[in-house]
Amino acid sequence: MNAFQPVDIALLKKYDKAGPRYTSYPTAPYFSEALDETAYITHIEKDIKSMEYKDISLYFHIPFCDTLCYFCGCTMMVTRSQDKIEEYLDYLEKEILLLRKHIGDGRKVRQLHWGGGTPTHLSPIQISRLGKAIHHSFDFHEDAEVSVEIDPRELTREHMVALSDAGFNRCSMGIQDFDPKVQEAVNRIQPESITRDAVNWARELGFSSINLDLMYGLPHQNQETYAKTIETVLTLNPDRLAVFNYAHLPSMIKHQGLIKEEWLPTADQKLELLELSIEKLNKAGYIYIGMDHFAKPDDELTIAMENGTLYRNFQGYSTHSGINLFAMGMSSIGMLSDLYVQNYKNLPAYYAALDKGQLPIMRGVALTEDDLLRREVITELMCNFKLDKSKFEQKYSISFDAYFSDALQNLKSFEADGLIELGKNQLEVSQMGRLLIRNIVMNFDYYLMKKQGEKPQFSKTV
Ligand SMILES: C[S@@+](CC[C@H](N)C(=O)[O-])C[C@H]1O[C@@H](n2cnc3c(N)ncnc32)[C@H](O)[C@@H]1O
Ligand code: SF4
Repeated sequence: MNAFQPVDIALLKKYDKAGPRYTSYPTAPYFSEALDETAYITHIEKDIKSMEYKDISLYFHIPFCDTLCYFCGCTMMVTRSQDKIEEYLDYLEKEILLLRKHIGDGRKVRQLHWGGGTPTHLSPIQISRLGKAIHHSFDFHEDAEVSVEIDPRELTREHMVALSDAGFNRCSMGIQDFDPKVQEAVNRIQPESITRDAVNWARELGFSSINLDLMYGLPHQNQETYAKTIETVLTLNPDRLAVFNYAHLPSMIKHQGLIKEEWLPTADQKLELLELSIEKLNKAGYIYIGMDHFAKPDDELTIAMENGTLYRNFQGYSTHSGINLFAMGMSSIGMLSDLYVQNYKNLPAYYAALDKGQLPIMRGVALTEDDLLRREVITELMCNFKLDKSKFEQKYSISFDAYFSDALQNLKSFEADGLIELGKNQLEVSQMGRLLIRNIVMNFDYYLMKKQGEKPQFSKTV
């Protein structure tokens, strides 16, 4: 939201229902185990031949953490065993060599991201080891975006030096909430001074973009304590902020049951916390770039959003489209021009495939022409909040209004509520509609429309 605008809580409540985050389309529940290594390799070769996909993006999943945050919904495991971590690095190195053979030559890395779990649960020596293995196999653009997820607890300056030496220039740090009572209830004790040290080290070592993660909807959060958290966070002067909606799904994520329901804010209180976050961050000059993310006005993501060139993949928002994303490590998801692949989600299966000399693909999906069209519509609306119908009509030889007549019909109520403008030539999401973008794009999701009436498998959208 460029200029500050009050948030309409009644509208948020009206549209508050479960929905996907659309890090992929089709979404992960529609990936099939029938898709295997052979299909993956065939599609890699097809993209190499097309020549449109030259630059590459790499993702590495580091699943380990030192302790369990009770809210955590990430694919992670607690371990303090150095042997276990070393073994994982052995297998990551095997996977790099195996996959590298298929990627072809002359392709340079535009983006690299280590996510988790907690990549900084690796020791500085282990960080250097993995960094070297990656640089040994891949060439990087000089200005590549090289980013890492950091947990400030237990982080040392040596970790940051090792990351900087391995070429990292951006980072994202988890905070969630600074209030001691909230921190105790979620088993994540993280004094402000620790986070401040981490941010200072990153700045001193020349990291050009620092993102901080916050979460609303956590136990014992209230307006007063959360306002204080945000004020403290603002003194750290991050370039970007993610304010995530706590997804409480104890029936699916067992350890979330350690958080008592009665400690959680009510749905109304949660929306008030969201409103508070938006107001405070807007006033501090941050721009809402969509899907829980804020950035400074001069940040490249904000500029890309304003120019209509923002893009989004499994690694989050980006200014680069048209690149293959090769993902390594357990559970990681890769993306080619018309294919998604996901690695095995547990270590024994991931290791067993690599022991056989196979890429550890568990499942995936090859996109149909309809999937490609809908993915582009969803991505365009989610990233740039507007869509030019003629672009799609030319590219896909369709009449936009006829092809999407159901979606446009459903969106009429959104238009009546001032969330989107359904123009003759273009669709444009309003400032308030940006907060409900998941609900808007869900109307273009063929699979969701087909399955309507079944049990929701996604978290609430706001
Ligand atoms: C992999 S963690 C970040 C790095 C590091 N492990 C840490 O926690 O500092 C990614 C982020 O996901 C968010 N997250 C984790 N569980 C979540 C949940 N259940 N609902 C919403 N966001 C969640 C948190 O904000 C967390 O910082
Ligand atoms: S939030 Fe981060 S540190 Fe906490 S358990 Fe999840 S991945 Fe690990």
